[in-house]
Amino acid sequence: MAEKILIVDDDVDSLKLIGLMLQRHGYTVVAANSGKQALAKADAERPDLIILDWMMPDLSGIDVLKQLKGSANTKDIPTIMFTAKTLIDDKVVAFEGGADDYLTKPTHPAELASRVRAILARSEAQQRTKKANRGLAIGVLGSKGGVGTTTLTINLAAALLNDEQSQPVLADFRQGVGTMGLLLGFGRSQGMHKVLQMPASEINADMVEGHLIQHQTGLRALVSSARPLEAQQNFEIDSAIATISVLRELGRPAFFDLGYGYDQVTARLQKEMDKLIVIVEPNSATLTMARELIHEISSVGGAGRINLVVMNRSQSSLQTPWQQVEDVVGLDIKAIIAAAPELAFQATENSMPMTLLQPTAVVSSQIVKLAEEVKTRIKSLTG
Ligand SMILES: Nc1ncnc2c1ncn2[C@@H]1O[C@H](COP(=O)(O)OP(=O)(O)OP(=O)(O)O)[C@@H](O)[C@H]1O
Ligand SMILES: [Mg+2]
Repeated sequence: MAEKILIVDDDVDSLKLIGLMLQRHGYTVVAANSGKQALAKADAERPDLIILDWMMPDLSGIDVLKQLKGSANTKDIPTIMFTAKTLIDDKVVAFEGGADDYLTKPTHPAELASRVRAILARSEAQQRTKKANRGLAIGVLGSKGGVGTTTLTINLAAALLNDEQSQPVLADFRQGVGTMGLLLGFGRSQGMHKVLQMPASEINADMVEGHLIQHQTGLRALVSSARPLEAQQNFEIDSAIATISVLRELGRPAFFDLGYGYDQVTARLQKEMDKLIVIVEPNSATLTMARELIHEISSVGGAGRINLVVMNRSQSSLQTPWQQVEDVVGLDIKAIIAAAPELAFQATENSMPMTLLQPTAVVSSQIVKLAEEVKTRIKSLTG
C-alpha cells in the first residue's frame, strides 16, 4: 500500500508543487493549508509522514508539531519541518519540539524526495521493532448486544491461565454496564472508570496495576462497574488509548471487552487491537448487523485482523447453517461455540469462568482451542 503523506503549507502553489512531486514518486498525498486543518487531518487520516511549513497565519508549524507530539493518536507520526527559516536556533527549537528532520526552502525536489524516503524507511523499521516487543491486544466485539461477548472474553483469558508463556489480563470498556466485574464477582469495582478519568500522560503501569481486581483463579481485570451513572462519565480517547498500551505491557495477552456496536469510541479503539474477534449468532438479524459492522471495520483497513466466531446460545435446530453465515458475512468462521445454557448460568452464579468450572465440557474445549491460536501468535511474537 502506498504510504500516505500529509503536506501542510499556507501557500497553495507550494502545496501543489510538492504534492505533484510526491505523487509522481508513488505516495498518496493529503494536503492542509492551515495549522488547524493540519491537526484535524493528521488525526483523521493518520498519515505515515507529515511535511510541515513553519510560518502560517493561524497556528504556526511549531505549535502544530507540539500538539501532534502531545497526542497519543499522532505522536508517532514522523515529521519534517519544511521552512524558509534558516537560523540554527530555529532548527534547535524544531528538533526539541520533536521534528525528525529539518529542510530549508527552497529545496531541490530530489533532496526532498530522498529525505522522505529515508524518514519513511527509518520509521517503518522502528514501528516493526516496537510491534515485535509489545504484548498482544485482543478485542472482542459483539455484532449485537447479548451475544456472549463478555462471556467469551473472560473465558479466552481463563483458558490461558495455565500456559507458562501467558499472563492474561482482562479489561472492560463498558462503563456503567460492567458485566465483566459482575461475572467475576466484583460488581462494584470501578477500576476502569478511575483510570479513564486521568489524563493520558498520568496513566502508567503502577497506576493501572493498583486498579486491577484479582480473581481467585489469578485472573486480573480492569473492570467497569454496573452503576448506571458511570455510563454518563466522559473520558478522553487518549486516556483509553494509553490504558490499552499499558495493559498490553501488563498482560500477555490483554483481552478487551469492546461491547457491541460501533460508536466513535469503539471505532477508534478497535484500531489499537492486533486481533478483533467479532461474535455473531446464527440468525438473520444478527448476521445482517455483523455484515454492516465488518464492512465499517474493513473500510478503515481492519479486515485482516477480524476473526469471526459464531456463538450459539440456544440449541434450536432452526439456526442458520454455517455455510450461509460465511456467505452473508463474507468471512470464514474461525470458531463455533456450542450452546451451554446451564453451564453459562452456573458459571455466572459461581463467579467462575465456564472453562475452569467444567474444563471437559464441549464449549470449554472449543474456547480453549480458540485460545490456543492466540497462544501460537504470542509464541511467534516472542520468538
Ligand atoms: N455458550 C453459551 N450458551 C448459552 N448461554 C450462554 C453462552 N455464552 C453466554 N451465555 C449467556 O448469555 C447471556 C449473555 O452473555 P454475555 O453477558 O456474555 O453477553 P454480552 O454480549 O456480553 O451481553 P451485553 O451486550 O449485555 O454486554 C448470559 O446470560 C450468559 O450466561
Ligand atoms: Mg457484555
